[in-house]
Amino acid sequence: MTRKIAVLTSGGDAPGLNAAIRAVVRTAYYYNFSVIGIKRGFKGLIERDFCILNPRDVGLIINKGGTILLSSREPRFKEYEYRKKAVSFLKEEQIEALFVIGGNGSFQGANLLAKEFDFPIVGIPKTIDNDTFGTDYTIGFDTAVNNAVNAIDKIRDTSISHERVFVIEVMGRDSGFIALEAGLATGADVILIPEYPFPMYRVIDKIIKSRERGKRFSIIVVAEGVASAKEIAKILQKKLKKFDFGEIRYSVLGYIQRGGSPTAFDRNIASRFGVFAVEEYKKGNKNFMVAYEKGDIVKKPIEIAFGKIKKPDFKEFEISNILSL
Ligand code: F6P
Repeated sequence: MTRKIAVLTSGGDAPGLNAAIRAVVRTAYYYNFSVIGIKRGFKGLIERDFCILNPRDVGLIINKGGTILLSSREPRFKEYEYRKKAVSFLKEEQIEALFVIGGNGSFQGANLLAKEFDFPIVGIPKTIDNDTFGTDYTIGFDTAVNNAVNAIDKIRDTSISHERVFVIEVMGRDSGFIALEAGLATGADVILIPEYPFPMYRVIDKIIKSRERGKRFSIIVVAEGVASAKEIAKILQKKLKKFDFGEIRYSVLGYIQRGGSPTAFDRNIASRFGVFAVEEYKKGNKNFMVAYEKGDIVKKPIEIAFGKIKKPDFKEFEISNILSL
């Protein structure tokens, strides 16, 4: 009998998920496994919303954003009874392992299946926030940064033309990776991220100094985890009033960052993660997560992703301060 694995995508969508699904399905078939797709992440798992995925079912998706398997955040999976139900469905379908393309929350859920029921799981990391501990990279981050860069470049046109201060809010619920990379790439005057606080008086000082040097516009990139762009713009409006900088404007980039066609980097890393995951499982490994470390793809115990905070490199933060003159 052909061996069978299942795959699902869970949590916030990220560009490159489809490339990862395609890689898992096709590598599995290459090694004579069949694949079941589970719809809407853990929700579909406890509702037994399963579908057969053949290699041609994942054709023409490598360039598509979102996830063909759909996604969700499923609170019921925190309850033992639902996890028990999930494992019984997997077993009834003769599925021998579950591949979870998700972030640390999804990995924790999957890990419980391994711990409580000895059901083999494999984690493939994705999140545009890039904040999963244990891996230098998560699928979707590069596309999100490029989406933010494209948007900030456009906003800068108005900022220059009207000699305005702009506060631009990017995603990153608890983390500043997108803000830092996008801010560096667009030459932002100030980058505000939760990991390395930068007090308001220094923000104001930087803006004033840059005006004194003859720069007539300013861009501040803020991660949503620090504060809303609206709040920051309000404070700046008040504090900069006497300097006659005009209206301070703000813009929230929001879900534009999470959608659209994945970059070549995201398509390729997702493909490599997917192939690696299946090949390592085939070798007899289980309960691991795929990780990117110093340019290599490696496997790590999935628990590594839990409870620890991954921080951007402080040097990168310093670079942004050196260059923003
Ligand atoms: O985890 C990625 C992320 O994009 C965060 O940066 C953001 O706060 C969150 O998802 C919002 O997602 P949702 O609206 O789906 O809860």
